[in-house]
Amino acid sequence: MRFLFKKPIFGYVIGIFLVVAFTAILLSFLIGHSFVLIAVLLIQFIVLLLFLLNFYDRFIKPVNKATNTIDEIVKGNYRARFHHPTSDSIGLLSTKINSLARNLSEISIQEQMQSEQLSTIIENTQSGLVLIDSKGYIHFVNKKFITLFGNSSKAYQGYLYYDVLNNEIIHETVQKTFLYERNIKEEFTHFKGLDKYYIEIVGAPIFDDRNILKGAVLVLYDITEMKKLELMRKDFVANVSHELKTPITSIKGFAETLLDNSADQSDENKEFLEIIYKESNRLQLLIEDLLILSRLEKENFQLVLSTFDVKEAIHEITPIIEHKLTEKKLSFSTDVEPNVELTADKEKVKQIMLNLIDNAINYTPEAGEINLSAAEDDESIYLQIKDTGIGIAKESLPRIFERFYRVDKARSRNTGGTGLGLAIVKHIVEVHDGDIQIESEVNEGTTITVILPKVTGSKNILD
Ligand SMILES: Nc1ncnc2c1ncn2[C@@H]1O[C@H](COP(=O)(O)OP(=O)(O)OP(=O)(O)O)[C@@H](O)[C@H]1O
Ligand SMILES: [Mg+2]
Repeated sequence: MRFLFKKPIFGYVIGIFLVVAFTAILLSFLIGHSFVLIAVLLIQFIVLLLFLLNFYDRFIKPVNKATNTIDEIVKGNYRARFHHPTSDSIGLLSTKINSLARNLSEISIQEQMQSEQLSTIIENTQSGLVLIDSKGYIHFVNKKFITLFGNSSKAYQGYLYYDVLNNEIIHETVQKTFLYERNIKEEFTHFKGLDKYYIEIVGAPIFDDRNILKGAVLVLYDITEMKKLELMRKDFVANVSHELKTPITSIKGFAETLLDNSADQSDENKEFLEIIYKESNRLQLLIEDLLILSRLEKENFQLVLSTFDVKEAIHEITPIIEHKLTEKKLSFSTDVEPNVELTADKEKVKQIMLNLIDNAINYTPEAGEINLSAAEDDESIYLQIKDTGIGIAKESLPRIFERFYRVDKARSRNTGGTGLGLAIVKHIVEVHDGDIQIESEVNEGTTITVILPKVTGSKNILD
């Protein structure tokens, strides 16, 4: 009886009272006997109450239960179930709610498994990972990153990257990734205690469905082992070249002396001496080129910067090439804007021009033309060497800057070429932060343009 006064049903009981009271008022005019009136009202009240209880049990109570079950599911409790063993619409509702809960539970288990797998992969990957949002806040750093840079993930997550990552190259990578919205690759050295690590960092932008930048992910590879092997290789080449320098110089010197005093020697001996002299000269050139490359590749290599007039630098190299030019009857013209000033390593820039003109001379048949021009815009200087020579086939163009690559091995060997000239040019251009472009047509000629920044900052190769 007490449950009639409970919240969900109490309202309906009041309603029945009101209906009975209204009926009492109406019937009081028709029925004179109050005993009969009370009996009629009582019967009406009991019938309505029974009807209400039946209605409550069949509809209101199950609907309330269904609502509670759905509330539980919304909260994430996918084990909540609602049982109503009838075949009417409420029974159907209970089956649907239960199968919805079961499906959601399966989806959530799968999602959890996938996210666990993903986080295991991310945490155990051998590269450091950092996730940064578009405002610069760090959202995630993985285990490898913490192993490399120390601290705990709490020291990074939720902070601005430039407040907690104390490394200029990382800052630059993030800024460039956001600015250019493309992958940016850099390298830097990192010290952990006394250990030196070589790190390659790749910044990759993250976009949403509408192609709007959402943030960036930084991947840090530990390339220490690879770098050590590369350094060993470089050291080996540098040491061998250095060790060979002295004996080759003496072989060449003695061959020269013997040749000078060879008047009484047989022709055969003279020929052999000439071969020894020529080949030792070639070896000497090769060793010098290898040493130049080794020096350029040195980790602490520094450019000797000065501001100079490009015309003056060209003036200084002309006597060196004049002899070769007249020997091959080539015409050489220069086309240099006045007062083109460059802040760079003058000797290295001269070396670029020498190597390129040397190629132009070697690979242009007699009576050809070579032109050297220098122009400028606001930021850069454009040095261009143009020849009317044999040209380079399209398929060889991507390879000509490789060490020892020669399009026609026999031909360049005849010119005394070692295949290192353009590799040296490329290295010098790179350490100056410049660029090199090449256009060539077989049998028509080659144009190589070197673009150098007007002012080169002194730059370390591994920066
Ligand atoms: N101006 C050019 N015209 C045609 N071919 C060229 C020209 N410049 C370079 N090449 C090709 O590219 C190759 C590489 O040039 P690179 O200067 O590196 O080596 P090289 O001239 O053979 O030797 P060296 O080390 O003595 O310069 C050359 O062997 C030649 O086949
Ligand atoms: Mg060359």
